[in-house]
Amino acid sequence: MNVLVTGGTGTLGRHVVMLLRQSGHRARILSREPRGHVDAVQGDLKTGTGLGKAVMGMEAIVHAATGARESMASRAADVGGTRRLLNAARDARIKHIVYVSIVGIDKSTYPYHRTKLRAEAIVREDVVPWSILRATQFHDLIEIVLGGFTRLPGVAAIPFRWQFQPVDTREVAQRVVDVVLQEPAGMLPDFGGPEVRDFESIAESWLKARKRNRRLINLKLPFRFSRQFAEGMLTCPEHKDGKITFDQYLQEKYAP
Ligand SMILES: NC(=O)c1ccc[n+]([C@@H]2O[C@H](COP(=O)([O-])OP(=O)(O)OC[C@H]3O[C@@H](n4cnc5c(N)ncnc54)[C@H](OP(=O)(O)O)[C@@H]3O)[C@@H](O)[C@H]2O)c1
Repeated sequence: MNVLVTGGTGTLGRHVVMLLRQSGHRARILSREPRGHVDAVQGDLKTGTGLGKAVMGMEAIVHAATGARESMASRAADVGGTRRLLNAARDARIKHIVYVSIVGIDKSTYPYHRTKLRAEAIVREDVVPWSILRATQFHDLIEIVLGGFTRLPGVAAIPFRWQFQPVDTREVAQRVVDVVLQEPAGMLPDFGGPEVRDFESIAESWLKARKRNRRLINLKLPFRFSRQFAEGMLTCPEHKDGKITFDQYLQEKYAP
């Protein structure tokens, strides 16, 4: 199958591209940067440049691009960008788009989750036959978030009670590949990691694996989303699909 992967240079997308190619499919990458690869098209979801060229000759799309790391720009890339991509996909008669989203966002007040929900709604308009796969937080993201909370020397201030169900990016990528190779299926069951853990214990494992000596402090954030995260909104304990635990991921990454 010929598959366009938006976000094909990102944390998830690069695994999707690799798995598709390893199984004999064609994966074309959309990226804002000029890439050396033969099978990459330069384009930008925020402006729509390159999208027509990117979808040309493709049968399906894995839409894993997000402007999440650029905060304010996220809405233009994620919401407007999804609309622009779908219009180009409809014109090119794409048969299936798989949108990657996040478990538990329906009632979340966290701004990025509101953006994702709006992008999901655009996909659900049926411009192109679709599937939406929601996953829990990737191990890589958990590390990025922990990095953000441990910038001060000597201490790590963490909202202890936030609940996560970290999942290995490679396992999500395999699920995405399985989905795109099948018929459009609408809203798919959630895809979660093997364990639900609180952020305190996740942070302890992370500090230990990286041999960092920090005093852990419970950070209380006065936001509604912080209470929601503590209530387990971002978890799906009934879908412990992934096999690789956060500790196994750390062991693989940091053990000598
Ligand atoms: N991270 C998680 O824990 C998690 C959990 C559940 C669901 N998800 C979802 O999974 C998807 C992938 O997340 P990720 O963590 O892999 O993302 P990521 O590592 O931040 O990668 C973002 C990708 O988006 C591309 N991109 C950004 N702005 C763009 C634009 N304006 N035009 C075209 N491409 C653009 C980037 O490509 P270039 O820089 O090459 O242009 C990059 O490949 C997202 O939709 C996210 O919401 C993530």
